[in-house]
Amino acid sequence: MSGYEARFKVWRGDPEGGGLKDFSVEVHEGEVVLDIVHRLQATQAPDLAVRWNCKAGKCGSCSAEINGRPRLMCMTRMSVFEPDETITVTPMRGFPVIRDLVTDVGFNYRKAREIPSFVPPPGVAPGEYRMMQEDVDRSQEFRKCIECFLCQDTCHVVRDHEENKQVFAGPRFLMRVAELDMHPLDAASETGLDRRRTAQDEHGLGYCNITKCCTEVCPEGIKITDNALIPMKERAADRKYDPLVWLGSKIRKRPAAG
Ligand code: SF4
Ligand code: SF4
Ligand code: FES
Repeated sequence: MSGYEARFKVWRGDPEGGGLKDFSVEVHEGEVVLDIVHRLQATQAPDLAVRWNCKAGKCGSCSAEINGRPRLMCMTRMSVFEPDETITVTPMRGFPVIRDLVTDVGFNYRKAREIPSFVPPPGVAPGEYRMMQEDVDRSQEFRKCIECFLCQDTCHVVRDHEENKQVFAGPRFLMRVAELDMHPLDAASETGLDRRRTAQDEHGLGYCNITKCCTEVCPEGIKITDNALIPMKERAADRKYDPLVWLGSKIRKRPAAG
């Protein structure tokens, strides 16, 4: 298809306020939304703020909402829209705007810091770790995450309830807790760290009602809900309601005699 003029509405503004601005911009075959935003910068709006790095769906920087759906601008082909369709590009609604399409995603970095990292197993040197292939595969899926935070933006627990950000880590970071809890070599429990308890009590796992909206927008196709959040809920419930687990935790906590 040869070039055509597309109608765009792009949100422009800052923390004080803003609104949608109309543009008519040239589109060529094979282009993605980020190409159009760059053309806007080059021809009509040189000060339009947009964050991007790789243009290959790998850095997770160019997250925005296109026609209201959280997406990567560099992976959204113009060919998915009709040529006479007006395309709306707005910043991620779940995070505070810095300017135009750029948001402050610091919430996610704060949540990342709250999760203790992998605890190496005592007495096993790096390089001597051995795991079943299915355990490797499980971690691998979660490690495809490019930290675009589209799932965090989508999740209604924080999208519509700013106040929940204090107590809810969001799908990306609950997935991280799940990954570590399911890791057969993680020795966190031997240091007194109960990842299942922290998932519930510190990272707000109970707020998730498994709607799968996070999974639907993940550009890496990670089954966040089915493979991380639901198993994590099951594991946390086992801990809470399994009488043997409960008894074991009481016995371990009993102070030594004498
Ligand atoms: S499945 Fe849970 S984490 Fe994902 S969007 Fe729904 S409530 Fe949020
Ligand atoms: S889990 Fe998917 S949607 Fe969420 S931050 Fe990672 S890549 Fe993005
Ligand atoms: S620019 Fe890197 S993911 Fe879009």
